Amino acid sequence: MNNTSTPASGPKRPRWKSVKTRMLAAAAVCIGLLIAAVSGAGPDEKNTFEEGAFESPDRCLGCHQDIHSQWAGSMHRFAWKNEFYQPDYLQASRETDGFTDVFCGECHAPIARRTQQLPPPDGSLFDDISKKGVSCDYCHTVREVVEPVNVQTISEPGRVKRGPRGDGSSPYHDVEFSEIHTDPAFCGACHNVVHPATGATVIDTYDDWKQGPYAEEGIRCQDCHMTPGPGVEKNPGKSSFMGEERDHVATHFFPGGSVFFHDREGNSEEAELARKMLEAAAVIEAETGEDGTELVVRVKNIGAGHKIPTGVTYIRKMWLEVTAYNDAGDQVYTSGHPVDGNHIDPDTVFYRKTFRDEDGNPTQKSWFADGIYYDRRIAPMEYDEQRFALPSDEAGGIANITVRLMYRSMSQEAIDGWGIGEIDVPSIEMTRKELETGK
Ligand code: HEC
Ligand code: HEC
Ligand code: HEC
Ligand code: HEC
Ligand code: HEC
Repeated sequence: MNNTSTPASGPKRPRWKSVKTRMLAAAAVCIGLLIAAVSGAGPDEKNTFEEGAFESPDRCLGCHQDIHSQWAGSMHRFAWKNEFYQPDYLQASRETDGFTDVFCGECHAPIARRTQQLPPPDGSLFDDISKKGVSCDYCHTVREVVEPVNVQTISEPGRVKRGPRGDGSSPYHDVEFSEIHTDPAFCGACHNVVHPATGATVIDTYDDWKQGPYAEEGIRCQDCHMTPGPGVEKNPGKSSFMGEERDHVATHFFPGGSVFFHDREGNSEEAELARKMLEAAAVIEAETGEDGTELVVRVKNIGAGHKIPTGVTYIRKMWLEVTAYNDAGDQVYTSGHPVDGNHIDPDTVFYRKTFRDEDGNPTQKSWFADGIYYDRRIAPMEYDEQRFALPSDEAGGIANITVRLMYRSMSQEAIDGWGIGEIDVPSIEMTRKELETGK
C-alpha cells in the first residue's frame, strides 16, 4: 500500500526562481494568445471592463428568487471568501511573490479580475460584487469559451443575458439562447486547470468527463449538478414569477462533496445535498477468500460523471476503511482509521491525486506542482480492486467485517499546514459493506 500523506514541509524559496522564470515566459505566451483570441471582441483587448460593468446578484434576486437562494448557498458564491481558499491563496501569493494573484483570481473571483480589482491579493480593491465569487452576471454574460481550461472565456457584460432558452421575455434584460451554456465546456473553462508554467494538470474534471462514458451518452455536468439531486432530474416551474412555466428549471445549488464546508457555514440544506451526492457516487463489493484470510474489496464508481474523487484532490482524501471483528466483537484487524492528530493512518488505501514538485518530492501546494506524484482514482463506471491480508485463526478468528468508503473534503494536513487553528476534519461515509464470514 502506498503512503500518500503529503507533508506540509516548506518550499525552499530559491527553488521558486526557476518556476518563476518559466511562469513569466508562460504568462507572456498566455497574454499573447488571449489578445489574439479577443482582439476586436470587446471594449478592451484583455477583456477587462470598468468597475460596475457586471451586475450584482441582488439585481437578479427580485425576479429570480429561487435561483438566487440556491446560488447563495453554493460553493460558487463562496469561491472567493471560502475560509479554506483564502489561506491557500495567500500562501501561494507569498511564496510566488504575487505571481499567482491574478491566475487564481480568474476562477475564484472572475468579476474582480475582469474589472481589474486584482492585485492586490487581499481583496482590498474589491467592490461588493467581486466578493461574491462566481456569480450570476459572470456566468450569464459569457459570450464564448475559447478553450475549456484556465478561464479562456470572453465576457460581454450588458443588457443581454445568455442562457439555455432565448424564448422568454424579461422587462429588465434581453435574453439570448447560448449553446455554450448548455455545454459542459462552459463548466470546463474553470473545472480544468493547468499550471501555467509547468503544464502540470491541477484539475481535470472536464477532460475526465469528456473521455468517459457519460460524454458519449450526452449526460452533461448540468444534468447531475443543476437538477434537484441524485435520482431527481426535473424541477418543473418558472425561473421567474414573470416567466413561462417550464418542465425543468435548472437549479443552482451545484452540490459537490463539500459537506464539511457547508456544515461550518450553517448551510444545512446544502450540506445534506452534498452528502447525497457523495452517497450516490459509489458502491462496494467485498468477499473473503476460501480460508478467510484474504479480503477482496472492489469499489465501483456508479454515480459520478468523472473520476472519484475529482477536483482539488491534493487537499482532499477518499479512502477505504476496513474493520474486522472476532466472535466477541473485538477488533482484530483495522485499516484506514484515524491515528494521532486526526490524521488517517498513512498506511491506507487512498484514492486521490497528489503532486510532485521540481525535486520530485510530494507537495500539496498546487503552485509548486511540476507533475503527478500519486494518482489513484476511480473512473466513471469502472472499479478499483484491493486485497487485504487478514490475520489467520490464531488471532481469534474473524466473525464479521465492515468496509467503508470514506471522504474528507479537506485533508487534516492541509488544514494544519495553513495554520488556521485547531479544526478537526470529520470523516464522511460515502458507502459501506458488511460481511458475515461465519467463522
Ligand atoms: C424584472 C425581472 C427580472 C430581473 C430583475 C432579472 N430577470 Fe432574468 N429573466 C426574467 C424573466 C421574466 C425571464 C424569462 C423566464 C422564462 O420565461 O423562462 C428571465 C430569464 C433569464 C435568463 C434565461 C435566459 C434564457 O433564454 O435561457 C437568464 C440567464 C437571466 N434571466 C439572468 C438574469 C440575471 C443574471 C439577472 C440579474 C443581473 C436577471 N436575470 C434579472 C426576469 C428578470
Ligand atoms: C457557474 C455559472 C452560473 C452561475 C453562477 C449562475 N448560473 Fe444561471 N445558469 C447557468 C447555466 C450553465 C445554465 C443552463 C443550465 C442547463 O443548460 O441546464 C443556467 C440557467 C439559468 C436560467 C434559466 C433556467 C431555466 O432552466 O429556465 C436562469 C433564469 C438563470 N440561470 C439565472 C441565474 C441567476 C439569477 C443567477 C444568480 C443568482 C445565476 N443564474 C447564476 C450557469 C450559472
Ligand atoms: C468562473 C469559473 C467557474 C465556472 C464557469 C464554473 N465553476 Fe464550478 N466552481 C468554481 C470554483 C472556483 C469552485 C470552488 C469554490 C470553492 O470551493 O471555494 C467551484 C465549485 C463547484 C462545485 C462544488 C464542488 C464542491 O466541492 O462541493 C460544483 C459541483 C461545480 N462547481 C460545478 C460546476 C458546473 C456543473 C459548472 C457548469 C455549469 C460550473 N461549476 C462552472 C468555478 C467555476
Ligand atoms: C452522472 C452524474 C455526474 C456528471 C455527468 C458529472 N458529475 Fe460531478 N459529481 C457527481 C457526483 C455523484 C459527485 C460526488 C462524488 C465526488 O465528490 O467525487 C460529483 C462531484 C463533483 C465535484 C466535487 C468534487 C469533490 O470531490 O468534492 C465537482 C467540482 C464536480 N462534480 C463537477 C463536475 C463537472 C464540472 C462535470 C462536467 C464536466 C460533472 N461534475 C459531471 C456526479 C456527476
Ligand atoms: C481555472 C480555474 C481555477 C484556477 C485558476 C484556480 N482554481 Fe482553485 N478551484 C477551482 C475549482 C473548479 C475548484 C473546485 C474543485 C472541486 O471542488 O473539485 C477549486 C477549489 C479550490 C480550493 C478548495 C476550496 C474548498 O473549500 O474546497 C482551493 C483551496 C483552491 N481552489 C485554491 C486555489 C489556488 C491557491 C489557486 C491559484 C494557485 C487556484 N485555486 C486557482 C478552479 C480554479
